[in-house]
Order: sequence, then C-alpha cells, then structure tokens
Amino acid sequence: MITINDIINKKNKEKITMLTAYDYQMGKLADESGIDIVLVGDSLGMVVLGYETTLEVTIDNMIYHSKAVKKGLKNSFLLVDMPFLSYNVDIKDSIYNAGQLVTKGFAQGVKIEGGKRTIETVQKIVEMEIPVAGHLGLTPQSVNRMGGFKMQGKLKEDAINMIEDAIALEKAGAFCIVLEGIPENLGKKITESVSIPTIGIGAGRYTDGQVLVNYDMLGFNEKVPKFVKKYTNSKNILGDAIKSYIDEVKNGTFPNDDYKYNVDSDI
Ligand code: KIV
Repeated sequence: MITINDIINKKNKEKITMLTAYDYQMGKLADESGIDIVLVGDSLGMVVLGYETTLEVTIDNMIYHSKAVKKGLKNSFLLVDMPFLSYNVDIKDSIYNAGQLVTKGFAQGVKIEGGKRTIETVQKIVEMEIPVAGHLGLTPQSVNRMGGFKMQGKLKEDAINMIEDAIALEKAGAFCIVLEGIPENLGKKITESVSIPTIGIGAGRYTDGQVLVNYDMLGFNEKVPKFVKKYTNSKNILGDAIKSYIDEVKNGTFPNDDYKYNVDSDI
C-alpha cells in the first residue's frame, strides 16, 4: 500500500500519478491500473452530481463517495477534498471535518484549496496527524472571486505570490501541492522552490506528478479544459453498447438461448 512517505520520496526520482474517482468501480479500476494517488475530488459535484460548480458539495457527499472508493482500493493512497466552507471558517470545525473524512471516509490525507489564508488550518490539521495536500492556482472553490474557471498566475506579482504560498504550505506541513491551471514556467518555478512534491493539472510538464479528472480523460465529457487529454472516447463506446442493447431488446434478439434459465419440469 502506497504511503505518504512513498509519495514524498518520489520527488526528483519518479513521476507521481493521481486520478480522481468517485465510486467503488472507478476506484478499483484506478487502483488495479497502478495509480499512486486516488483523489476523491469535490469535482464530484460537477462530474457526477451535475452541479454548475463545486460550491454545493457537502462534507457528507465527500464521506459517502470516499467510503465507496476506499472499498475498491488495495494499493493506491486515498486523498479526499475538503469541500467549500468545511474548513477555514473555524479551526475546530476544520479539524472535526478533516477527522470525519478520515474516520468515516477512510481518507489517508485531505486536500485544501488556498495559500497563505489556509496556513493556520493546514498546521492544525497536520498537528492532528492528518496529512494535508495544498491546492494552488485555479482553485475551483474560488470560482466567484476569479470570475470563472480561468488560468491563474499570469501577472508577475500573482506568480510571486503563488510561489510564496507554496513555500508557506510546505512550512505549515503540507506533504504535497496540487497546481492547477497555471503557466508551465510557474509550475516549474514552484516545483523547484519546494522540497515536497507538486502535482499538476494544467500546470505543464515540470511538476513532480500529474492529476486528471477520470471522466474527462476517459472521454465522457465533450467539453473539457484545454489541458485535458482524452485517452479514449468512453461516451461513444458506452453509448454504442447501450444503443445495441436497445436494438436487440426491440428486435427480440436479446435475450437468446445463452441468457436464460431452463428447468426440466413443465409449468
Ligand atoms: O476536485 C478535483 O477533482 C480536484 C482536481 C482537479 C485536482 O481538485
């Protein structure tokens, strides 16, 4: 089983792979495929619950999905997002909510969005022996402040601020930092400025690892951000399978002899 130490030790040696999952089947698939970290992201609000943003996601949503994902994992490290307002409002609540993700959702670590403003929260949760991952750049919980899901760190002063945020997160005890939606040169600079691993999504080639949203990279969603590579086209493949099933039910070719029970006695 992959531990926090294995992840930290990969820096400068081996790229770290992270993928989101929101249920048992997808967790199992990621685990069996050899993913290092399975992230139950609060992207679940948009990806599996159909919300416009991640802001509606609750701590109970995260526990429910995390518990299901954990059932599918044998080897991967389980990282779980703290949803909007479940941290930073009050330190006691933040620790309690992080604890809920560990005790009820079986998280091995929690992820928190934001830089300097989250430092006290990160410190306190780490003091409670819960590993914390930071998340900088295009932080989806800040969608209203950012005015949309937009690339961050374009201006020099913003970039410098983000480097300082990363250093502050490391000092506060974060074990890794997710960098989302930032220029490649900033991803590189941050990666060189901290001794903990950085894991990029739309942050270029030089981060210590990469993360993608599973349904995006599997090709379920037509519209995806520029930084998403679709490795297959599940929407068409699965859609074709469902259409074949409909056709066969309608024309009577399913079920045939192969898919039925027989008994010897007459009814
Ligand atoms: O919620 C999420 O899936 C994430 C990843 C995009 C990093 O935070």
